[in-house]
Amino acid sequence: MTAPASQFEAYGPVADDLPRVDELLDSLRDVEFPWLREMLGAVLGGGGKRLRPALTLLAGRLGRYDLDLLVPMAASVELLHTATLVHDDVIDQAEERRGRPTAAAQFNNGPSVMLGDYMFAHAAHFVAQTGNLRVVRNFAETLRVMARGELSQDLAAYEYSPDVRRYLDRIHGKTASLFATAAEGGAIVCGAPEPLVEPVRRFGEQLGMAFQVVDDVLDFSATAEELGKPVGSDLLAGTLTLPALLYLDRYPDDNPIRRAFSGVRRRANLQRAINEIRESGLLEESLETAQRFAEQAAVALEPLPGGEPRETFESLTEYVLTRRN
Ligand code: IPE
Ligand code: IPE
Ligand code: MG
Ligand code: MG
Repeated sequence: MTAPASQFEAYGPVADDLPRVDELLDSLRDVEFPWLREMLGAVLGGGGKRLRPALTLLAGRLGRYDLDLLVPMAASVELLHTATLVHDDVIDQAEERRGRPTAAAQFNNGPSVMLGDYMFAHAAHFVAQTGNLRVVRNFAETLRVMARGELSQDLAAYEYSPDVRRYLDRIHGKTASLFATAAEGGAIVCGAPEPLVEPVRRFGEQLGMAFQVVDDVLDFSATAEELGKPVGSDLLAGTLTLPALLYLDRYPDDNPIRRAFSGVRRRANLQRAINEIRESGLLEESLETAQRFAEQAAVALEPLPGGEPRETFESLTEYVLTRRN
């Protein structure tokens, strides 16, 4: 299959319905406090690929495609995602996101943490609007798992632990769990046949794993212009992602990451490791891991009937592997 030229091409028939999700998200700005309105405007107005809500809408096509239920479900997922980004940028002291200054950079840490909390609360409100207890329960569980994934990453910063299993656990928690819930939620609220719910959840989960591995590769290989956020930032923040873990595996005895993490010329050693990883062939090797998750995603789709939406799920997978932003 040839890769879709843009994310919207990859989203197929649901691309035209995504503006309804944006509209509902925009309605959040309808609050009386001018400062909250301004902060919400700053984080909601600024782009984003809308991949998770697209997944929700697509999964809805396995049942009775009902936008009155799908739009709040999809908005809930996107808002939960955006809230985690607001908090992630506080933790990472990130200056730029989606090509714009982060909330943390514009409004400082305290208000940004509360802004993220406000968004989490509103995401819960949206999911409750579906009137479906099963997706509400999934939402609560996903929030718990994601918080644990982010915590585990943060607590391990600058810890020299060359452990790929732990990395995979962590990205499962912080990213794949939400992709899984996004897909499953769309299928559930539209009453998709029960034997298709678990496969579509599994598809979302494996797609999310591939997505995060690609994100971690792009942090080494892309440009800041492409990503709308600085590059090289994971390792500089002390986070070991797959390319760095493979590098540790190749040079287990002495390497600049080991030196940096033990406090020796931290910045210079990390910059050197970033440059070496870029030249090492390890990014291609990491992408093979992403490719394997994408293959698992394809396997998960086997119980689905042919035609659309299955074909769109496949084009989404292709997009995730080839994206540059
Ligand atoms: C960024 O997600 C956070 C990760 C899980 C890597 P996206 O790359 O989907 O962010 P937006 O929504 O498009 O900005
Ligand atoms: C963190 O992932 C976002 C969550 C999944 C909670 P990243 O740290 O990889 O996201 P970016 O690279 O800052 O977008
Ligand atoms: Mg981050
Ligand atoms: Mg990243």
